[in-house]
Amino acid sequence: MSEPGDWSEGIEHTRRERSAAIRTGLTRLGRPERGFVNPSVVRGSTVTFRTLDEFDRSLKVDLKDGPYTYGLLDTPTERALAGALASLDGAEGAVLVGSGLAAVGVALMAFLSHGDHLLMVDSCYGPSRILCDGLLKRYGVETSYYDPRVGQDGRPGIETLFRENTRLVFMESPGSVTFEMQDVPAITAACRERGIATAIDNTWATPLGFRPIEHGVDVVVHALTKYVAGHSDVMLGGLTARTRAIWDKVKFTAMDLGHGASPDDAWLALRGMRTLGVRLESQERSGLQLARWLQTRPEVKRVLHPALPEDPGHAIFRRDFDHACGTFGVLLHEVERDALARMLEGMRLFEMGYSWGGFESLIIPQHPLSERTAAPFEETGTLLRISVGLEHPEHLARDLADGLDRLS
Ligand SMILES: Cc1ncc(COP(=O)(O)O)c(C=O)c1O
Repeated sequence: MSEPGDWSEGIEHTRRERSAAIRTGLTRLGRPERGFVNPSVVRGSTVTFRTLDEFDRSLKVDLKDGPYTYGLLDTPTERALAGALASLDGAEGAVLVGSGLAAVGVALMAFLSHGDHLLMVDSCYGPSRILCDGLLKRYGVETSYYDPRVGQDGRPGIETLFRENTRLVFMESPGSVTFEMQDVPAITAACRERGIATAIDNTWATPLGFRPIEHGVDVVVHALTKYVAGHSDVMLGGLTARTRAIWDKVKFTAMDLGHGASPDDAWLALRGMRTLGVRLESQERSGLQLARWLQTRPEVKRVLHPALPEDPGHAIFRRDFDHACGTFGVLLHEVERDALARMLEGMRLFEMGYSWGGFESLIIPQHPLSERTAAPFEETGTLLRISVGLEHPEHLARDLADGLDRLS
């Protein structure tokens, strides 16, 4: 395998320094002030009050930093993780919910009401789309999908799609199936001019790769289930907010819907966060090594990975991102189902599983063609998504090479 090359060569020094600062920060965030270096797991529903005054005040406490009132709203363990996540994102605060998809739902419902119009990126996570076309539609919110590359390479900008009642533009960059990069600063600038809110699913990049709030995004959605928790043992979602007013909106929406997060899962996610830097570094490096090697294989038509200089989204990636992760797409020349089954069922290390971002390598077929409406993915072939884990890249390459050999 050839070396991946360092895509970040020539990137200005301050960005490197910031990455280094974040990496060190991961060891400090969410710690108790003294004593043990980790918060304890506080499981609980009931919080008792000593006086009637205290009880009365509990109805008006500051839900973000005030005294605890009820387990669903907050516990010390969740507050430790939420504080750490907010700090990584440069946000005013974070809200935790039970899954990444729940976080997508809360972001949408926080900003949208009956009669409103939503602009959702066409390359979004599939269940986000199902939510828009199903539940949101039933509640009177209209969704239009837009090309992830809106405003790029001569395409008209996002403002051409605004309607009188457009209230939110939702982004995901890169998309976790087809990996198109979005011009986030251009989109947020256009939205700000019209007072339209913006949200982004930043699961792929994590706060180490991209900090959307610095680029004007109002709410950042994280499926903490993936890289942040990192060990495939947690379902958890997080939202970070650019301002306190936005945090209130998000928190009250989550409360209205009865969302909370398990303190055990929050604790596991904070534990995962400690090693996020080293895991991402390893997964990014191994992923790029494999991506480069896959480009040399005759079965491969194209590798979809924005950190590769050949990728159509690379200029934006290089401009805005500090890191990639280990998840990318591989478009094979069309293969028959039987051959694909031989390839995938015979893998020794790569297993088929829906998630990504864990310690274990995964590979699954993807079918973006059936879903897209604004910018259909028209390239022919068989698309696979690979999530590179922490195994040695040479072992992973051997597994993939044998798998590709089984196609013929
Ligand atoms: C981009 C993206 N966002 C959100 C989610 C949802 O996360 P969760 O599985 O925690 O609900 C996923 C899950 O695969 C995802 O890929």
